[in-house]
Amino acid sequence: MNLFKNFSWGVTTAAAQTEGAYDKDGKGPSIWDEFTKKSHKIKDKSNAKVATDFYHCYKEDIDLAVAIGLKIFRFSISWPRVIPEGTGTVNQKGIDFYNKVIDYCLIVGIEPWITTYHWDLPQKLQDKGGWANREIISWYVAYVAVLRDHFADRVHYWILINEGIVCIGGGYFLGVHAPGKKGIRNFISGTHHLLLAQAEGFKVLKQKEGLQVGTAISCTKIEPYRNTFADQKAAKRIDTLMNRLFIEPHLGLGYPIDDLPILKRISKYYNEGDLEALKTDFDFLGIQTYTREVARAAWYIPYLGALQVKPKKRNVATSVMGWETYPEGIPYFLERFAKYDPEKPLWLTECGMALSTDEDDQERIEYYKKVIQGMKAVLEKGIHVKGILLWTLVDNFEWAEGYIPKFGIISLNQKTLQRKMKKSAIWLKEYLSNMNMK
Ligand code: NOJ
Repeated sequence: MNLFKNFSWGVTTAAAQTEGAYDKDGKGPSIWDEFTKKSHKIKDKSNAKVATDFYHCYKEDIDLAVAIGLKIFRFSISWPRVIPEGTGTVNQKGIDFYNKVIDYCLIVGIEPWITTYHWDLPQKLQDKGGWANREIISWYVAYVAVLRDHFADRVHYWILINEGIVCIGGGYFLGVHAPGKKGIRNFISGTHHLLLAQAEGFKVLKQKEGLQVGTAISCTKIEPYRNTFADQKAAKRIDTLMNRLFIEPHLGLGYPIDDLPILKRISKYYNEGDLEALKTDFDFLGIQTYTREVARAAWYIPYLGALQVKPKKRNVATSVMGWETYPEGIPYFLERFAKYDPEKPLWLTECGMALSTDEDDQERIEYYKKVIQGMKAVLEKGIHVKGILLWTLVDNFEWAEGYIPKFGIISLNQKTLQRKMKKSAIWLKEYLSNMNMK
C-alpha cells in the first residue's frame, strides 16, 4: 500500500521574512519595520527592507518550488501592504501584488495557500496597543473580510494566525520580537484578544462556501529534567503554555487554568460570552514543530516557576538556532493532536532545520529523511495527516536572528539576490519525482 498516495508536499513562506519592498507601492510600516530600526535587537543588526525581495522575485521562487515538485505554496499577506493604516483605506497596489502571486501559482500549477497573519502588524495599530487592545478583534475581522472578498475566489486553503504563542510570547511577554513589549499583562490580554480575533476571523472566512480554514500551532515537546514531582509539574506548566494554551480554548476546552494557574488572570479580560465565542471548528489543524525543551522547577521564576535546561548543558546536538534538532517531535505531536479529534485533518504546516552553511546541506537531508520516517509511522497508525509544508524555500530573514540561520532549501546571494538549489532541494526533487512514479 502506498501510504503517501493522497499526501501533499509544499512549502511555507512569510511576508515579513521574504517580501522586502518595505515601503513600496503604498505599503504602511509594520511592527517589524519599526522593531528592526533598533538594530541591537537583531543578532546581525540586519533588517528586512529587502529580505529575499520576493516582491519582485515571486515568479522565480514559485517556479523553483514547482521545479522541485512541490504542490502547495503557502505565503502570508502583509496586513500593512493591504491596509496601510491597519483599518480603513485598502491599498489597491497591495491587492494587485497578491493577485499576481495567486494567479501565477495557478498558471504554473501549484496551489496557493494564504496565512492571514504571520506577525507583521501595522505599526499604526500597535500605536493603539496592538494585540493588547480588545479593539483588535474588529480590526482583524475587517482585514480578513477584505482578504476574503479579494482572494477567496481562487484560494481555498487559509490559515488564520501563525503560531500565536510565539507572536504573543516573543512580542508581548519576552520583548525579543516586535513590538518588543514585555510583561504578564500584555501577554495575558494579548493571548485572549488574539484567540478571539482568530475565532471571529474563522466565521468571516466561512461565510464563503468551500473554504478550508485552519490555524497553525507552534509545538515544542517538553520533558522534565529529573524524575521528580517538582520537575514534572514544572514541565507540565511549560507544556500547557507552549502546546495547549493556543488551541484548547478553540476546541471548547476552555483555558487550561488548572495546569497553569497564572492563566486565572485572563478572566479579567473576559466579556460575557467570550468562552463560547472562542469555540472554533477549524477544518484542519496545522502543526509546526522543530525542537524539544527540558524544564526544571525553579520557584524563583515568576509566573511559571520553571527554567529551561539549555540543550548545550544537556549535551545534545543543536542547530545554529541553538535548538535541539528533534524530528521525533513530529510523530509525537501528530498523534497527540489526533487524540483531540481523530477525524480532524492534520497538516504539518512547517518543519525544517537551520544550518549556517549554504549549498552543502547534507544534514538537512538527513533531517528530512527522519521526517519522512516519522510520517510513515503515523500514517501506518491511521492518523489523518494530509501533507507536509517545509520551512522554507529560500534562506530568509529569521526574525531576531537576522540572516544567520539558514532554513531554506534554496540559497540566496544577498548582494545579487541570486537563488541556487541546495543539495537538499535536489534530493527532494528526486524523492518527489520517484514518489510520483509509484
Ligand atoms: C516558525 C515561524 O512560523 C517562522 O516564521 C520561523 O521562521 C520558523 N518557525 C523558524 O524559526
